[in-house]
Amino acid sequence: MPAPYEFQIPTRIVYGRHAAAQIGEIAGRLNLKKAQVVTDQGVAHSGILDQLLKPLQDADVATRLFDEVEFNPTVQTADKALRHYTEEGCDGVIAVGGGSPMDTGKCVGVLATNPGSATDYLGIGKIKNTGVPVICVPTTAGTAAEITDIAVLNDPIKKIKMGIRSPQVAPAVALMDPYLTLTLPPAPTRDSGLDALTHAIESYISVNSWRVSDALTLRSIELIGRYLRTAVHNGNDIEARDGMLTASLLAGMGFHNTKLCLVHAITLPFGGVYNMPHGVSNAIVLPHAMEFLLPGAVSKYVDIAVALGEDVEGMSERAAAEMAVEAVEQLSRDVDLPAGLAQYGVKEEDLPKFSESIAQNFMVPLSPRVATAEDILEICKAAF
Ligand SMILES: [Fe+2]
Repeated sequence: MPAPYEFQIPTRIVYGRHAAAQIGEIAGRLNLKKAQVVTDQGVAHSGILDQLLKPLQDADVATRLFDEVEFNPTVQTADKALRHYTEEGCDGVIAVGGGSPMDTGKCVGVLATNPGSATDYLGIGKIKNTGVPVICVPTTAGTAAEITDIAVLNDPIKKIKMGIRSPQVAPAVALMDPYLTLTLPPAPTRDSGLDALTHAIESYISVNSWRVSDALTLRSIELIGRYLRTAVHNGNDIEARDGMLTASLLAGMGFHNTKLCLVHAITLPFGGVYNMPHGVSNAIVLPHAMEFLLPGAVSKYVDIAVALGEDVEGMSERAAAEMAVEAVEQLSRDVDLPAGLAQYGVKEEDLPKFSESIAQNFMVPLSPRVATAEDILEICKAAF
């Protein structure tokens, strides 16, 4: 008998234009008296924090700023953030930014009650104790780190990028305000948006997908097709920013339950070894992986093509499915995605070694067509 489907989003979601003003009330409900604000230099200098610190002050919640998170944060950064949390005597975390600050903040949340270093908990289900309250406030639309139970870190000594995945890692609250994404420059808007598209497509075609996750992820794909170009080229358009933030959330709700598949498996070493931005690596690999996966998900590709606005009337099912790959390529061109992994320092001679280890990743068999190491090498070469 097949296993029944399960669906859970453990994080409370507070979503809306100007929802940032609710942060004091939300922190108060979690009994926070002194919160560590975890962020990066970009956010710290953007003025975004002002929209959060004032309502926190009004609610008598003290704050201590840790703004040293880099992109692709390391286990050392997570440990340093924890030391700051402990030294300052904080009682909860407010993580503000893209995936990097949110994942670091989520790490602090669980390390505060689980002894040791972040590196001790890389893997699945290693966290034992419930963490302290974490509020995630995304300023990009793409990672969905605000609702997931995984925090991804780089270990530069072991040269790997790996997640701490445990139910306790999921934040208590995701506070989502599209106005906080308004000042994000075009390149990170593009990269995070294409990461969301990868999440939505990978969840939609996953062997774990079902009608409930499909309803979320197909709508996400449609919203990205409608709004990503505008969000990249006219960042002040609040409707487009709102559409993208919702799309990111919907994709996250889907993949949090179905897990991801081939693209995210392939791109893990590019972040770990070359420090390549996560969204870019996924976006470059996505159409090539989609071409390989197409025979395993023909009818779902037709849905993707239609969701991305393609007219497939009168086409054969196969020809309509191929339009999904073309639509993704066209969208990537329209938002000026750089072509090729080589531009980011990926070395061709490393690809065979990567392909062998990628083929062992748990996400590969969740794809609608299972790739061998040879298949993965071909996909990487095509994306090179
Ligand atoms: Fe991703």
